[in-house]
Amino acid sequence: MPHFLDIADLSPDEMKTILADAHAMKAARTGLPKGAPDPDPALPGRALAMIFEKSSTRTRVSFDMAIRQLGGSSLILNAADMQLGRGENIADTAQVLSRYVDAVMIRANAHQDVVEFSEQAGIPVINGLTDRSHPCQIMADLMTLEEHYGKLEGLKLAWVGDGNNVAASFIQAAAKLDFELHLSCPKDYGPREDDLIAASLCGARLALMGDPKAAVQGADVVIADTFVSMGDADATKRLADLAPYQVNTALMKEANPKAVFLHCLPAHRGEEVTAAVIDGAGSLVMEEAENRLHAQKAILKWCLLS
Ligand code: CP
Ligand code: NVA
Repeated sequence: MPHFLDIADLSPDEMKTILADAHAMKAARTGLPKGAPDPDPALPGRALAMIFEKSSTRTRVSFDMAIRQLGGSSLILNAADMQLGRGENIADTAQVLSRYVDAVMIRANAHQDVVEFSEQAGIPVINGLTDRSHPCQIMADLMTLEEHYGKLEGLKLAWVGDGNNVAASFIQAAAKLDFELHLSCPKDYGPREDDLIAASLCGARLALMGDPKAAVQGADVVIADTFVSMGDADATKRLADLAPYQVNTALMKEANPKAVFLHCLPAHRGEEVTAAVIDGAGSLVMEEAENRLHAQKAILKWCLLS
């Protein structure tokens, strides 16, 4: 069953196929109204259920429009409104939904819950963000960089801030595709050791650097994310500890003069990034957000047609 749970589960060729399909589908519908189906919709009649345990704007809307453009339909379910929120177990929920719909996307607090759901479901399951990873986001980010630079090979990416779920998926991607990834995170906010080891063993070119300036030196891409992710309890302490890792104009000056800025959004201007950077000429955040739609269409096709 082709579940899309983590970048680590994909082969480099599968990633390249998904990315190429995303670019092709984006180009093929140039000029069409956003609500119009693709010229040759790939998933007619398919139904996608989305379960949200946490808030979402981009993932919710982009998956909804993705399945519509592919000719299918969607159901958006807040976990708290389901029997799941009253204690029904994951196994029964997964098996029941598998009788009604063709695929499920889940945004969950605990990664293990998505894994368990996938083990019980008879249909493809997509990870729409957990405490551990955000693989759909990284496919859109890589697509955005391919669009901008023409290729990923040889790029130097610098992640600055919390070594969180989005960072984990970037680390996994660095093990699959040929780019260099520098990470600068404060003590106690670094990426998980097992992610770093697994990616390094697969050939990822990773470097952990305490000093954000060193990490960003000569980078083609600088990436930030919120200092307080959904589910993080210690917001005040996090904001204080992570403050020196803000991406601002002075930090961007250390990067390649033509460096671009990525952020998965939602952003907090004045915290992890200044307005001058995220709203400046080098920011690709809106292209990145748009590409969630195109990348996820390719993910849905990979799950349902391969
Ligand atoms: N980047 C992202 O996943 O955004 P949402 O939380 O709005 O879905
Ligand atoms: N790291 C953030 C990403 C939000 C899309 C979070 O988990 O809240």
